[in-house]
Amino acid sequence: MFLALTEKANEVLKTHFSGSEMNAVWLVPKESSFGDASLSLPLQLASKLKKKPRDVAQIFVDALSAFPDVARVEIAGAGYVNVWLTTEALLRELTETEGAQKPQAARSNERPVIVEYSQPNIAKPLGIHHILSTVIGQSLTNLYRHLGYNTIAINHLGDWGTQFGKLSVAMEKWGKDKSAAELGLDGLLDLYVRFHVEAESTPALDDEARAAFKKLEDGDTAMRAFWTDVVAVTMQALDEIYARLHVSFDAVHGESFYEEKMKPILEEGKKAGVFVEGQQGALIVEFPEETKLPPSIVLKGDGATLYSTRDLATIRYRVDQYRPQSLLYVVDVAQQLYFQQLFATVRKLGWELPHLEHVIFGRMRFAEGKMSTRKGTVLKLEHVLDEAVERAKDVIAEHRDTIQTDDADALAEMMGVGSLVYGILSQNRRMDIVFDWKKMLSFEGNSAPYLQYTYARAKSVLRKAGAEGEAALPKIIEALTERERILIRTLLQFSTVLEDARSAHMPHTLANYLFGLCQDFNAFYNVDPILTAAEPQRALRLALTSTAASVLKTGAEILTLRMPERM
Ligand code: ARG
Repeated sequence: MFLALTEKANEVLKTHFSGSEMNAVWLVPKESSFGDASLSLPLQLASKLKKKPRDVAQIFVDALSAFPDVARVEIAGAGYVNVWLTTEALLRELTETEGAQKPQAARSNERPVIVEYSQPNIAKPLGIHHILSTVIGQSLTNLYRHLGYNTIAINHLGDWGTQFGKLSVAMEKWGKDKSAAELGLDGLLDLYVRFHVEAESTPALDDEARAAFKKLEDGDTAMRAFWTDVVAVTMQALDEIYARLHVSFDAVHGESFYEEKMKPILEEGKKAGVFVEGQQGALIVEFPEETKLPPSIVLKGDGATLYSTRDLATIRYRVDQYRPQSLLYVVDVAQQLYFQQLFATVRKLGWELPHLEHVIFGRMRFAEGKMSTRKGTVLKLEHVLDEAVERAKDVIAEHRDTIQTDDADALAEMMGVGSLVYGILSQNRRMDIVFDWKKMLSFEGNSAPYLQYTYARAKSVLRKAGAEGEAALPKIIEALTERERILIRTLLQFSTVLEDARSAHMPHTLANYLFGLCQDFNAFYNVDPILTAAEPQRALRLALTSTAASVLKTGAEILTLRMPERM
């Protein structure tokens, strides 16, 4: 973006501030009263050279005022340079943004970025809260991929541990000789719940469960077969939901995958004196006092491995196998301390590590009602998705006069699922995430239906003009309307927004940008006639409509939404 302006500003740098080792970066200011492009470089230069910022800014202003692309240039605030571009220059910039709408080719020579997300525990249906990691992780994966990063999406299934022993005990006692496939996930969950109820009064069940898990660990054939069945039943149910959410993985490695890979690490840690003996023969890691981290256990006294032992093996495996530049864990805030300990442990082991990050998200709260069913069990994600689709059907029926569709069911699925997903991704992940049906499905607010409706509206205009996909920007336009100018500025910001959302791992910045874009587009659409305008205005407005639609679709799909061509 702003290639010509950047070149010009760098020329000024070279002539007047040689050896500064700085680079000019122009950004589109948030407020249109600050122009089309803004430069903060004079402030940084001035502080480095101990000069007055406004004097430094003046040098840029003098050089830029004669530049043919520049209609107006001013010093603003403490020493910013704000530029208003000529209409031609602005339109040229817009043509250059087309690149941001297409996914960049993967830079396969670069080390990959690993994003780990969703990570449900098997033998249980997905609960409503699972949607958080799942869609935040998928949108980050999509962002990285869109921007040309070699990206590996991994699902780390919780398919190992004593909970499995519990399930097999319950199966034997109350499973009525049915297979895991016959019971289905719901049947398995009932058994699991029953185990916990009965174990309250019969604690010996817990010992049985531990013994059963030990058998599985020792490779008992019947236990292995049972485990394989349960994994298959779970995966099938998961895949159905992932397909509805447009979520997919490059690798699914359960915790069980690391079963054989823990021993060498335990040996290494002991040898290095990083794993030391704790209470009752357990192996623990201690951290320096200033870290304020409590010790963590890597092996139980009875020799059993833990969740953390498997995570150590997971890091080792990923580093060796993929040589990643970064390793991201999209996991809720409840595991914050756990990940701090995990990362501190691998650092203590002295491993050569990629950038490690726990991409935290807050808890989900319901605006009204509760997150659990009357029985106290969690709401199943599948049911919440179905309810969202039902509610979307009502919205479609309510707006019968304005909504046109040839396939109301497909539209309801797109809108319902989209509402839920967008409702989450439009919120700052670091805060509690509020679940609010009304807001998610509102037709006017910051919601998926609003984005979808705006997109369909733009597509409809393009269809009527017969200009789909071939609306070329005219080179010369005498003057832009205020709405056109605002829309263009917003479109110019797209590539920066994508980059910011990626580097901060904050999908909501992209969501909120798309909302703003829809508002700017609708303001333009409502006031400036498109189809009935005279040339070259008509061509310009069609081109703006086409670019807005394309940016909207690209951005929404990064957030896993789908946009209807008609609605
Ligand atoms: N399955 C775990 C849970 O439900 C989350 C796994 C997170 N990832 C990891 N590598 N520890 O709590």
